[in-house]
Amino acid sequence: MKIGLFSDSHYSSQTVTCGVRYNSRSLEKIRLAYDRFRAEGCGLAVCLGDLIDREEDHGREIENLTRVAAVIRGSGVPTVCVMGNHDAFAFSPDEFYGVLGGCRPRTLRAGAAALVFLDACWSESGRRYAPGDGDWTDTWFPGEAGLERELAGISGEAILFVHQNVDPEISEDHRVANAAAIRRIAERSGIVRTVYQGHYHPGHRSVCGGIRYVTLPAMCEREDAVFVVET
Ligand SMILES: [Fe+2]
Repeated sequence: MKIGLFSDSHYSSQTVTCGVRYNSRSLEKIRLAYDRFRAEGCGLAVCLGDLIDREEDHGREIENLTRVAAVIRGSGVPTVCVMGNHDAFAFSPDEFYGVLGGCRPRTLRAGAAALVFLDACWSESGRRYAPGDGDWTDTWFPGEAGLERELAGISGEAILFVHQNVDPEISEDHRVANAAAIRRIAERSGIVRTVYQGHYHPGHRSVCGGIRYVTLPAMCEREDAVFVVET
């Protein structure tokens, strides 16, 4: 199965933020991404998080996410959106997936592989990110035991998706606090082939313990950050 991937669109009304993020342009880039996913026959699209960026007014954030939802729904391509820190600093999960009208992660089969989605929008204290929060460097995945059980029950290969970084080569401030434990679980399972991540905007690729770590470059900073992979 072909899967379309993009990450860190950071869509908002701002023309440019942080000098390099072209936020408002991302809606058109998402449209173009879905044109390509349809043209290439993708059976699924995955957004690796930070679909939207913050606005001063929550009504505006809802409007922005509604526009993105219309593009996704209009495409006809089944889609999963992993929440990123910017999404979770603006929306609770229920509101986020409610406005999107679906796209909630759940384990899926794609050809020979199982697709497993991790949510690291938690602080190390065990508290889930909530609207109004802002410390993106405090990131933690609370589901180690559940991940181990889930991987043990999968026949064939698994591909993991998570917004924040598990790759040990990415700087510590972007990395999930228990990234080493996640890598150990993935390695011990013997079935994880690739871990896809976003969050670190330049993007990166590495191999560690026999697993490929692919960090997608941010859509908001480039014109070509749209990918199609085959499972
Ligand atoms: Fe992020």
